[in-house]
Amino acid sequence: MSEMLRAPAEVKYAEELDWLESVDDGPKPFSWRLSPRMVRLFVLGSEPSDGLDREIPQKWFGDRSFVERSIVTLASDRGLLLIGDPGTGKSWLAELLAAAICRNSTLVVQGTAGTTEDHIKYSWNVSMVIARGQSRESMIPSPIMTAMEQGVIGRFEELTRATSDVQDALISILSEKYVSIPELEEDNIVFAKPGFSVIATANSRDRGVNDLSSALKRRFNFVRIPVVSNKRSEAEIVRFRTTELLRRHRIELEVPPSLLDILLQSFADLRAASASASSDDERLESALSTAEQIGVLEDAILHSHFFGDRTLSPETLAGSLVGSLARRSPEDLAILNKYWHGVVEPRGKDGGPWQGFLEGGRQALTTLS
Ligand SMILES: Nc1ncnc2c1ncn2[C@@H]1O[C@H](COP(=O)(O)OP(=O)(O)OP(=O)(O)O)[C@@H](O)[C@H]1O
Ligand SMILES: [Mg+2]
Repeated sequence: MSEMLRAPAEVKYAEELDWLESVDDGPKPFSWRLSPRMVRLFVLGSEPSDGLDREIPQKWFGDRSFVERSIVTLASDRGLLLIGDPGTGKSWLAELLAAAICRNSTLVVQGTAGTTEDHIKYSWNVSMVIARGQSRESMIPSPIMTAMEQGVIGRFEELTRATSDVQDALISILSEKYVSIPELEEDNIVFAKPGFSVIATANSRDRGVNDLSSALKRRFNFVRIPVVSNKRSEAEIVRFRTTELLRRHRIELEVPPSLLDILLQSFADLRAASASASSDDERLESALSTAEQIGVLEDAILHSHFFGDRTLSPETLAGSLVGSLARRSPEDLAILNKYWHGVVEPRGKDGGPWQGFLEGGRQALTTLS
């Protein structure tokens, strides 16, 4: 297999998916490649009670009820809408589900203000139309149309960022399950094969930009993904992503568990401070999501790899944390300064890794102010 900067889940876990398919004897809806139980197992990992000959690692961390509801929705004739704060793993869950169910997670439309109906229906290959006229050959199906033709899952990222015209077009696709092509005289309807469904994601902070119409809401089952606030699951997510990152960059570097604790603790502290702040100025602009934590750690790891020695130091970690959270000056800087004075300083007095963290953060804050 040739190299890819980032392989889609069905490629990355191809061997595991093949194996699961080979041992799966459960009933499968439509043309699903795995039964609902196996899809859940692929996403959430195996337990000894599953009685499998090999261990399947957990890939998405969160309550099993969200995963089950998502799977059930996809077996129904309604679309699935994963909604939640930025960085809660919505896109990752959508990718894993599509990979497990139909081995194709790449039929994706990205919702933006510039997304048009063509992006979810079809467009034309202009030079072919000029040479040979409009026909099915000169038509370029959108990812959603391709998903309909193949009876697989199409994905729509950031649905609420798309305009209401686009949302309306999606309504007709989800209810009628076909797209007509009025430009053609014959063969002008594309029907969805059984198994076609849509997984959309929406950022709850975006709501209001283009709020979903009630007609669209009726055609989707909502699954609301909360921010992980449980420290243990968060630690698992961060560890999982870090291991993967190190492997991907072929970096040999030790990440001391005590530093992972510091990262988790400082995010937890800053979240609590944001939650109790009375105005937006006293609140970090960052949503302080798990994804951002991963970003901070990734930064720190790459920094140590390129410029440091073979271990991640608390100084570097603090530098990355301050660097990625200080977005607004002076508001964010003031909040971080206050945190460093009030919380990190006392902890750093006792020596240990908090002391290095204290120093690194102080230095970064001085440079930035
Ligand atoms: N619950 C989780 N389980 C596993 N990985 C997670 C989880 N939450 C976040 N991540 C990791 O965080 C990163 C960002 O997640 P993802 O892009 O899926 O977030 P999102 O909810 O789609 O965010 P946005 O609303 O900004 O698009 C990914 O690398 C993902 O693997
Ligand atoms: Mg996303």
